[in-house]
Amino acid sequence: MPVSSPETEWIWFNGRMVPWESATVHVMTYALHMGAAVFEGIRCYDTPRGPAIFRLDAHLLRLADSARMYRMPMPYDPGQLAAACHQVVRENRVRSAYLRPLAFLGRGPLGTNPLGKPVEVIVAALNWGTYLGTGALEEGVDVGVSSWQRLAPNTMPTMAKAAGNYLSSQLMSIEAHRHGYAEAIALDSSGLLSEGPGENLFLVRNGVLFTPPTAAAVLPGITRDTVITLARELGLEVREQTAPREALYVADELFFTGTAAEVTPIRSVDGVPVGSGGRGPVTAELQRLFFGLFDGRTEDRWGWLDYVSEAPASGAAAPPDATDPELAAV
Ligand SMILES: Cc1ncc(COP(=O)(O)O)c(C=O)c1O
Repeated sequence: MPVSSPETEWIWFNGRMVPWESATVHVMTYALHMGAAVFEGIRCYDTPRGPAIFRLDAHLLRLADSARMYRMPMPYDPGQLAAACHQVVRENRVRSAYLRPLAFLGRGPLGTNPLGKPVEVIVAALNWGTYLGTGALEEGVDVGVSSWQRLAPNTMPTMAKAAGNYLSSQLMSIEAHRHGYAEAIALDSSGLLSEGPGENLFLVRNGVLFTPPTAAAVLPGITRDTVITLARELGLEVREQTAPREALYVADELFFTGTAAEVTPIRSVDGVPVGSGGRGPVTAELQRLFFGLFDGRTEDRWGWLDYVSEAPASGAAAPPDATDPELAAV
């Protein structure tokens, strides 16, 4: 959930830094009509050594994979996009932020064939706090199982972080909020556990950590991978395996993971308290290790933190050009 205003001053737009209000597109942009966009959500944390972007390489790899699945030729390579991510943090003078790289198809005939349309790219930095509301990280959230199932295999790729997939997420969110829940959990097309609208799902039962596999219509989450790695560090057994809906009602602990949601405990599902009805000990320990990465209590032995230096990286976009006619209006 955005805190105060999510807006920052500059957006990187096709290789240039553009004022927030001027980073606009035409109403006939193909992506608006056809959902032809792939994107990422990346957090930059305020660490004792300065702002650091978390798992930037993994996010940019997933962006490239998403584009590849849709045969969308990326006009910028991961090195250039990494420089753009650093630049929006540096030039917006933010210490923490939610970064949004997005590649979308621009102007062109509105047929269903996307090939040959221009690919445009932005990277924005947003001011974001805790995603699922104040107190969510400590107290947990109340969720409901959605009547909407996730995409069936061979319909649309769920491994892609593509704009169109979020129509499914929106239906889930609308229903969850209508029922008074903070978030939803979806089943896949075979009725097995999948994920939240923007989060992966973890269950703890008898000290073992379970999470639905990629084949259960989930986005291969980078926070999911982080938590699996940290759990194995703790000596926990982690199983990526399918699970039925009823596993939710007998789990000792449940939690969501995601860049936005971070590690959020779930305290009830469909009105049934999870375990003792609060944050469980395994969730608390994983949160401690996860958030410890950003305040220095957990050593970053994996090189997951990408520090944003004060000096521009090579490949950074040129500063805004005041003579640019598109900028002259602002
Ligand atoms: C549908 C969906 N599942 C899971 C996740 C969690 O992925 P990550 O941890 O990479 O943010 C997200 C968020 O990106 C998502 O949108």
